[in-house]
Amino acid sequence: MISAPIQLASYLFASILFILSLGGLSSQESAKRGVLFGIIGMIIAIVSTVLGPGVEGQVYIIIAIAIASVIGISVARKVEMTSMPQLVAILHSFVGLAAVLVGFGSYLDPKTAALTGSAHAIHLVEIFIGVFIGAITFTGSIIAWGKLDGKIRSKPLLYPGRHMVNILLVIACIILGYFFVVATGTGGMMPLIVMTLIASFIGVMLVMAIGGADMPVVVSMLNSYSGWAAAAAGFMLGNDLLIVTGALVGSSGAILSIIMCEAMNRSFFSVIFGGFGNAPTGTAKAITGEATAILHDGVADLLEEAKSVVIVPGYGMAVAKAQFPVYEMVNVLRKAGKKVHFGIHPVAGRLPGHMNVLLAEANVPYDIVLEMEEINDDLPETDVVLVIGANDIVNPGAEDDPASPIYGMPVIQVWNAKNVIVMKRSMATGYAGVQNPLFFRDNTFMLYGDAKASVDKINGELKG
Ligand code: TAP
Repeated sequence: MISAPIQLASYLFASILFILSLGGLSSQESAKRGVLFGIIGMIIAIVSTVLGPGVEGQVYIIIAIAIASVIGISVARKVEMTSMPQLVAILHSFVGLAAVLVGFGSYLDPKTAALTGSAHAIHLVEIFIGVFIGAITFTGSIIAWGKLDGKIRSKPLLYPGRHMVNILLVIACIILGYFFVVATGTGGMMPLIVMTLIASFIGVMLVMAIGGADMPVVVSMLNSYSGWAAAAAGFMLGNDLLIVTGALVGSSGAILSIIMCEAMNRSFFSVIFGGFGNAPTGTAKAITGEATAILHDGVADLLEEAKSVVIVPGYGMAVAKAQFPVYEMVNVLRKAGKKVHFGIHPVAGRLPGHMNVLLAEANVPYDIVLEMEEINDDLPETDVVLVIGANDIVNPGAEDDPASPIYGMPVIQVWNAKNVIVMKRSMATGYAGVQNPLFFRDNTFMLYGDAKASVDKINGELKG
């Protein structure tokens, strides 16, 4: 058992480790170190809380942690890289649910009833806000999980007057909050339950209204909400470390959401309030021209003639696990004296940084991996662009078709290169569900098939 001052010192140390962890995650080189700091910080946090003053029944807590750890490790080991966003979304929902349960537990705790005056009122407000944020996070994350997993259609559910309905529901929650705080005994239970139901409904409707290409922001936004839910739980439990950690997650998630919105040219508020004013206008531009197919040997010939090559990976590369043969191809091309770069779109794949993680897994050096803005300037001088399993992030309609749901989102302008090879299995649309006029351009050639099989065959041709 540890004393209160030792616990406080451990909390301080853990907080520093969490800050270092976030700092480490800001670049690929230091990311592993950042994760390690986070793990050590979390172990210190859990041990010093469980063994700290005021905690009873440690045996049961340790058994629960052991069972949960076994489940967590086996799920995380089994989950495919392509399903990682769904896992993240469902984990956010657990934080929301935890905040709701802590809120109800804290309300029924005799220690709460024993509080008097303003301390009592402040604690009740903490509980009410904590449960409100927790319930929105819980149901919103479940809907996000469903949308990312394809169980719920990704198209936004928009109905007239939805913003007014949401505002009225929030006003209803504020009125319920008043009744909750002024109630005596456990008389506030009914307003608390009703508010939980309303907040759960708001969570569902907020995420249902966001869809298609705006989903990346939802993931980071729910990450932020889960942080605030944890901070709220920290206030309810009087746990300083939980408040600090929650605030770190909440604010870093909010910053990430803003960065994602800027990357996608979306207004932050329009996304978090369920698509304020970003509905597409007019009729979709008609697609003209025909898609031209190419075979592996044709692609190998183009690559052999090229002096500069840019590779734009997308979600399909993750599905095909093509990053390893892609890097093999890069090595062959670089040995032949060609300039090869990767161009990474901020929302390629299904997770922030998804492509960077895949390329790091295949040991691709960071200096040949460029961001969208950097690569766009190089594209007019590029001989061949290989689009590997990407679709929405290279859609010219985002620039010139106001009727497109992704209109306004900056994209990698691959069509400016001399030749574009698109590797995918069919003419199917990407996540946003919009057809891609790029496939019908004169300088675009479609190489159909699984990305890994295609790259393997090209490698065979190049080596042969
Ligand atoms: P998408 O637009 O989803 O396109 C991926 C393409 O990969 C599909 O058209 C698919 O075509 C192809 N594909 C799938 N499996 C393949 C395989 N085994 N081999 C070859 N091709 C394969 O992906 P993107 O261009 O990376 O854009 C990302 C989209 O996801 C954006 O709309 C973004 O807003 C959204 N999103 C992103 C995130 C984050 S945070 N990154 C989170 C949620 C949503 P075929 O079926 O014809 O093969």
